[in-house]
Amino acid sequence: MKMEELVKEALRMRKYSYVPYSHFRVGAALLTEDGKIYTGCNIENASYTPTNCAERTAFFKAVSEGERKFKAIAIAGGPEGAKELDYCSPCGVCRQVMMEFCDYETFQVIIVKSETEYKVFTLQEILPLGFGPKSLEE
Ligand code: THU
Repeated sequence: MKMEELVKEALRMRKYSYVPYSHFRVGAALLTEDGKIYTGCNIENASYTPTNCAERTAFFKAVSEGERKFKAIAIAGGPEGAKELDYCSPCGVCRQVMMEFCDYETFQVIIVKSETEYKVFTLQEILPLGFGPKSLEE
C-alpha cells in the first residue's frame, strides 16, 4: 500500500539529512498523483537561513522534474540518535509550499512516529485560512 511505502521512505531518508547545526534529522516522501515517489531530507548551512527542510527538498526535486500534481507527503523527524521519534509537523514555510501545488481539501500530510504509528491530516487542517494561487484569481 502506498501510504505504508511513503512512511517507510520518510523514515529511511532521515539518514541522508545534513544537520551539523541542529542534529535534527528529517526525511520526507512525496507521492505524485500518478504514483511516483520523490524523497527529501533537510540540508543545513553554516549561514543558517539557506537551510532547506526535508519537505521542500522533496517538492523542489519533484517540481524541477516536471511534476505538478501531488496526493500526499510523509514526514519523519527527530533528534539524531533518538531512541524513538515524536510526531514532527511541517513548518509554516513548507505548508505554504504545499499550498502552491496541492489540493487544499484532499492533499494528505502524514506525520510519522514509526512504521506503524502515523497521523494523517489534510492541508486545510494544518493550514487553515490558507493563501494560495486561487486567492489571486479575480
Ligand atoms: N525541519 C525540517 O526539515 N522539516 C520540518 O518539518 C521541521 C524542521 C528541519 C529544519 C532544520 O534543518 C531542522 O529541522 C531543525 O529545525
